Amino acid sequence: MKPILTVEDLHVHFVSNSETTYAVNGLSIKLYSQEILGIVGESGSGKSVAVKSILGLLPETAQISGKIALGEERLDQLNSDRLRQIRGKEIAMIFQDPMTSLNPLFTISDQMTRVIERHLHLDKQGANELAELWLRRVGITDAKRRLNQYPHEFSGGMRQRVMIAMAMSLSPRVLIADEPTTALDVTIQKQILGLIRQMESEVQNSVILITHDLGVVANTCHRMVVMYGGMIMEQGNVSDVFSHPAHPYTQGLMDSLPSENNGRHLVPIPGQPAIATTEPKLCPFLDRCPKSISTCFQKMPVLTEIKQDHLVRCWLVEQGGNDETI
Ligand SMILES: Nc1ncnc2c1ncn2[C@@H]1O[C@H](COP(=O)(O)OP(=O)(O)O)[C@@H](O)[C@H]1O
Ligand SMILES: [Mg+2]
Repeated sequence: MKPILTVEDLHVHFVSNSETTYAVNGLSIKLYSQEILGIVGESGSGKSVAVKSILGLLPETAQISGKIALGEERLDQLNSDRLRQIRGKEIAMIFQDPMTSLNPLFTISDQMTRVIERHLHLDKQGANELAELWLRRVGITDAKRRLNQYPHEFSGGMRQRVMIAMAMSLSPRVLIADEPTTALDVTIQKQILGLIRQMESEVQNSVILITHDLGVVANTCHRMVVMYGGMIMEQGNVSDVFSHPAHPYTQGLMDSLPSENNGRHLVPIPGQPAIATTEPKLCPFLDRCPKSISTCFQKMPVLTEIKQDHLVRCWLVEQGGNDETI
């Protein structure tokens, strides 16, 4: 099966006068048709930078290398006009705070119809009808009246529904949702994630769902990527990774997840994620890893398949838990 979206050996670093930040360090991802791929990792692990580089949304201080392709089309080689056409129409993105994407001075109708008219070449009335249809599809009642309201007249959860409606109205092949429920309370969060799942199966697009919450991945995604220090530590089907987490970082994230078994005994991973100011030569999790062996201090582990489609970047796994160098 050919992937819809391919990211290959993506590197992103930011250069300022005082220092360089290595945000993404050799990331490769394939997104297939009709799947929800979760990208999980603590704050600062490079999740947002990685997906922003797909759409050319990073500031000029970002130095980017690697291959990014939508189907056969290389996005990293496109001019900005074509990239603007792709943004929204082919790949839509929604963020944690919809207020940053909605203009407070215009009604929802103004904002939705403008986008629809531009990308789908419909007239004003056609665009308005489509906007209303999509508001209804994402569960906004009284859609006709709501269309004429301003963003501040919607609650946070409702604004996120509007963003999903706006994104889906263009039938994008790929929806990228970057922490779409982080600012919402638990009940609303469940509704929004349910809506993203429903959209994926109805519209048959593919979704990248970014979150720092492993629970969100468990309930929403088919496949997952665990990121740390701008690299993939583990990836696989959600059921495989949850039943046999192989990387100490993934295991740490699991231990800090509330569950029936450990509900009252959450164990956060000690320490803070480090920000790389030089190109990483060793496993970025090394200084927080409770299971490191001497090989870990000598060379970078490679992403290794431990079972079909289940990959792990860890010397422990590669050496079967034996420290060969001792
Ligand atoms: N515009 C920028 N300039 C400099 N550093 C940045 C910029 N954007 C992100 N970073 C750095 O890149 C790293 C990854 O950030 P980000 O992708 O936002 O993490 P995440 O989304 O996983 O929380 C962080 O160390 C962050 O400080
Ligand atoms: Mg982020």
